[in-house]
This record gives sequence, structure tokens and C-alpha cells, in this order.
Amino acid sequence: MNPRSSKGAGARETSVSVVVGAQFGDEAKGKITDYLAGRARYVVRAGGGPNAGHSIHLPEASFVLHQVSTGVLHEGVTGVSGPGMVINPLLLEAELAELREKHVFKGEFVISERAHVILPLHPIEDGWEEGIRQQRSPANAVGTTRRGIGPAYADRYGRWGIRFADLVRPKLLQERLGLLYASKAHIPGLPAESETLATLGEVAGRLAPFVRPTEPMLWDAVAKGERVLIEGAQSALLDVDFGTYPFVTSSHPTSAGAMVGSGIPPQELDEVIGVTKAYATRVGAGPFPTRAEGEIAEFLRTAGGERGATTGRARDTGWLDLVLLRYVTRLNGFTSLAVTKVDVLGGLEEVPVAIAYTTPSGEKLTDYPPAVAEELNQVRPVYQRLPGWPEFTGRLRERIQREGVHALPSQLRHFLRFVTEETGVPVEWLSYGPMRDETLWLGRGATAHTALPSWSA
Ligand code: IMP
Repeated sequence: MNPRSSKGAGARETSVSVVVGAQFGDEAKGKITDYLAGRARYVVRAGGGPNAGHSIHLPEASFVLHQVSTGVLHEGVTGVSGPGMVINPLLLEAELAELREKHVFKGEFVISERAHVILPLHPIEDGWEEGIRQQRSPANAVGTTRRGIGPAYADRYGRWGIRFADLVRPKLLQERLGLLYASKAHIPGLPAESETLATLGEVAGRLAPFVRPTEPMLWDAVAKGERVLIEGAQSALLDVDFGTYPFVTSSHPTSAGAMVGSGIPPQELDEVIGVTKAYATRVGAGPFPTRAEGEIAEFLRTAGGERGATTGRARDTGWLDLVLLRYVTRLNGFTSLAVTKVDVLGGLEEVPVAIAYTTPSGEKLTDYPPAVAEELNQVRPVYQRLPGWPEFTGRLRERIQREGVHALPSQLRHFLRFVTEETGVPVEWLSYGPMRDETLWLGRGATAHTALPSWSA
């Protein structure tokens, strides 16, 4: 146990866990989080906002979570929309209403008073900023989700922002909104200040009962050894500092960002689960070295249902990139990996995996990509082609549910073992379908490793 941790002697080893996206988002983190959420006391979203879209498929309903954590789907669990988030209160209300209508809202829900408010003007500003970039050259567009994420974070760091603590204090809201509007006089087409004030005033009254100081709640939980799960949104490669800047989001979807965005001290963190698909996708602009083209790209898109859960945009598809995976592993300190959507590749003869890059000057890169997006665009991936595994028929799925890891096709076990060896991190989780029960835990650390005998074994 960490000697600096506040957890008592009886505390469980893994009371604070973080789930981090290891690619460009859309790794099916929501599913892994949902699986783990049932065992947690608190599930916290630490960053981002309605740009996230976590698709959840339950026998009773399918839906997408954007600003609410998966915690609310479980009895006895509190879902926290944490301090690091930027939240659109109108979309939040609609999301909560949908969850109630579908009878899947079973836990509790709270919003941090320190979370920032996305105002109706922020999505407009988002589109206006994209217009400026595009005017100079289409290649400059970030391809944002147009949910106002960048402008809301810019206001947060510029100290113009409005927090939920302000939203629920009518006089303060009026003052802060006036100041914010004064800073935006140069932006065309924004809704009138009075209109915004009226809209916010209404929604504030309805959301006020959920607005709390969330840090003390989480500190107490950690001290008691209760499980806290910090649910990643977006991904490490979209991190504003460590991602493919400027084609990134405006927050820190890394393990370090999870601590800043939840208010839990870093030394309390026990476990960092990196989630990666068995292949790769990217939506929006930006470099994607292992992007596939033509028929195979379309196959991955169709078989994997690769359309943005938030915007409906078709995702670009390609292959697992170990250079980037090694990079984000070191950046986040992954203690385990979850590999998702392995069923999508079922039936392929070979599964290419990028093990290195060569740069135009002939340099070989294995674990640290160029910081400049244009240079990352020019690298050539070096692929190793692993044997493919059979299709995931209904029968195979049933066998896996009954017999666990031993029912996995040997080629797939080889693939997982390869990923473990190449990253130095055990693959402990496997997801082989969209349903909640199509998730397999291979065991912790060495156990997971031995569950995956090498190809020759
Ligand atoms: P923003 O977060 O809306 O500002 O978008 C910035 C970039 O991040 C764009 O390329 C988006 O497509 C991407 N992005 C943001 N959130 C997600 C997500 O949850 N999944 C995948 N891509 C995302």
C-alpha cells in the first residue's frame, strides 16, 4: 500500500481506479467503466463535457451517456459530474430525463459546484473559431464536436467562466454573465445576454438540488477505503498537452488529469486501466499514422459500427499502433490494459499491428511520436502481421461466457499476449461484444499473463 495514502489499514488495494482512453477516443471505455462501476461507491467524470459519448447497451435499453457518469446506472452508486468538467446544463437535463424514462437511472447523481457551465454562446463560438481556422486553410480545422468545449475551457482558464456554484446564486450569475459577455463583444451572432440569463435562471432552479461540493465526499470515501472509479472521457492522444496538438480536445484525459479533475490527491491512485480497441479509429481531423484505406477501412467501419456516438460522423479506421500505445502507457502509468472490440476483427486472415515508424529521414521510432502533427502525418508505420482469429459466432460467445479465457481462440490469445509483451502491461480485460456481459476479466497481472499462453505454447 502507498505509505502516503490516507487509506486505513483495512482499505482495499484498489480503492481508486482510473479508466483512460489509450487511443483517439471511442475505445469503448464506457463499457469497461460500466462493468467496473457496479463495484464502486462513486464513479466520477473528471473532464470534458457533451463531446463525450459513451454507448451503453443493456438488455432493457441502449443509450448514450454524455455528461453523466455510468455510476447512475447502478443501485447504491453515486455518479459524479466532477470539478474538471464543462457541462451544458440544458443537455444535462435532457440526458437525465432520458435515463429516467428508460428506467435505467438507478443510483444517485451529483454535480460539482466547481464544474464550469457551457453557455448557449459557447457552441456558437466553437463554430465561429472553426470558421476562422478553415478560412486560412481547410487543413487547419480541428473538426471539433461543436459542443462549445474549447471556448468553455478557454473561458475557464481566462477566468471569465461561470461555474455551477455561480449558476445557483442568481445575483452572482447575473454579474458574472455580464462580465463574460463584455469579453465577447467581438464575436458575432451570440444570443442576447438577457435571453441567456433567463434560460440559465430557469435551468439553475431545477439542477440546484444536485450541485454539491464533491471533493469532501470523495476524500471521505477514499479514507474509508470505498471504491472510487474515475471514468475517462476522450483519450490520452486527445490531451491538450500530450495529444496530437492542435488536433486535440481542450482538457486532460490522462491519469494525471483525472486527479486534477476530481480533486483526489495523486498518491491515492491505485490502478490505471488503459482501454484500447484491437484496431484503431479517429474522428475529427488530425494525424492517424495507421489509417487504413479502401475496402478494409470500410469493413472495419461497418463491422465495428464506427460512427461518432455524439455527432454521428463516420470514423476513420485503421490498425493498432504500438508506438502510440507504448507512449500513452508511459504517460499514464497504465497498470493494466483492456482490449475491446476483438470480435470485430474475427474472420480476418491477418491482423496488422504497427510495431514502429520510420520517419522521412530514415529514423526508426518505437515509443515516442513526433510532437508536431505534420511530422506524425509523415511517418510510415512498420507492420507486423499476426494470424487472425475465427469469427465470433453466437456459439463462440456462449462458450466464452461459460468457460472464460480458455474458450478464446488461440490466435486471439496470441494477439493479447503480444500486446502485453510489447507494452509491458498485462491485458486484464477483454471485450468481445456490445452487451454488458460480453466482457471478460482475465485476472490480475501475472494471472492474466499466464492465461495467455504464447502462440507456440
Ligand atoms: P472538441 O472536444 O469538441 O473540442 O473536439 C476536439 C477533437 O476531439 C475533435 O477531433 C473531436 O472529434 C475529438 N473528440 C472530442 N471528444 C471525443 C470523444 O469523446 N471521442 C472521440 N473524439 C472526440
